[in-house]
Amino acid sequence: MQHRSRALRQAGRTLAFVPTMGYLHDGHLALMREGRRLADVLVASIYVNPTQFAPGEDFEAYPRDMAKDCRLAETIPVDILFTPDDRAIYADGCQTFVTPQDLAQRMCGLSRPIFFRGVATVVTKLFHIVAPHVALFGEKDFQQLTIIRRMVRDLNFAVDIVGVPTVREPDGLAMSSRNAYLKPDQRQAALSLSQSLQEARKQVANGETRADRIIAATTARIEAHPETAIDYIVIVDPDTLENVNVIDRPVRMALAVKVGTTRLIDNMPLDPNT
Ligand code: PAF
Repeated sequence: MQHRSRALRQAGRTLAFVPTMGYLHDGHLALMREGRRLADVLVASIYVNPTQFAPGEDFEAYPRDMAKDCRLAETIPVDILFTPDDRAIYADGCQTFVTPQDLAQRMCGLSRPIFFRGVATVVTKLFHIVAPHVALFGEKDFQQLTIIRRMVRDLNFAVDIVGVPTVREPDGLAMSSRNAYLKPDQRQAALSLSQSLQEARKQVANGETRADRIIAATTARIEAHPETAIDYIVIVDPDTLENVNVIDRPVRMALAVKVGTTRLIDNMPLDPNT
C-alpha cells in the first residue's frame, strides 16, 4: 500500500482515503462517494483496530463481512481496498502510541478511556501508509472527528480532513455497524436518541437558550424507554468540546446511551440563529 500510494503521488494523482472498520453501511458509502468526488484515486481501509477496544468490549463480536464489504466498495467504486492484518499494523512490541489530551478526556473518553488513543494511533499509522491528500470521517462520531482534526493540526499532517454529515435510516436512527446488535424492541428504544435530538432542535428554534433545560427534557425522553441507560448527554462547543451553559451561538448536542447491551452515540448541531 505504501509503495502504491507513493507511486500514485509521484505520477501526480491525488488520493482520498476513507478509514473504516468494515461491515459497511450507507454512512460509509456516503464517505466513499464524497472521497470519489474529491480526488483521482479512492482508497478505503477495513481494519477492526484492537487498540481502540478495552478488555470486555465487543472487539471479538464486532460484526465482520468482508465479502459483502468488497461488493459494496465496488459499487462506488473504491480503487484500492486496503485490508491489513494485525501483523502489518502492530508489529511485535509496538511501543509508540498517539495520546490525544483534553478533547479525549470527556464525553466518550470518560467511559472508554483508551478508545481515542487507539483511534489516534491507528489513524496516524494509516495516514503514514496511505499518504492521502484528503481523508473523510463521519460527523456521527463527532468527538472522533474533532480529535482527528486537532491531531492533524498538532502533528502537522499534510492531509485535509473532511467531515461528512450523518446518514440516517428513514426513521431517523443514525447508521452504525452496531445497530446490527439491536433486537426489534431495542431498535424502537434506540429511536429515542435521534427523536430527542430533534426535539432539542425544536426547543432551541422556539427560543430556549438554557442547556440544562434541554438536557433535562432529553434525559426524560430517553429514560421513558425501559431498556435505555444514559452514559452522557452534553451540549458542547464544537471545537473545544467544553460544556456550554447558554446557547447563544452554534453548538453541538451529543449523547451516548446503552440500549440493552449496545452502546449507541448520536449528535446534532443546535443553532439559535436558524
Ligand atoms: O470510525 C471508525 O470506524 C474507526 O474509529 C476508525 C476511524 C476507522 C479507526 O479505527
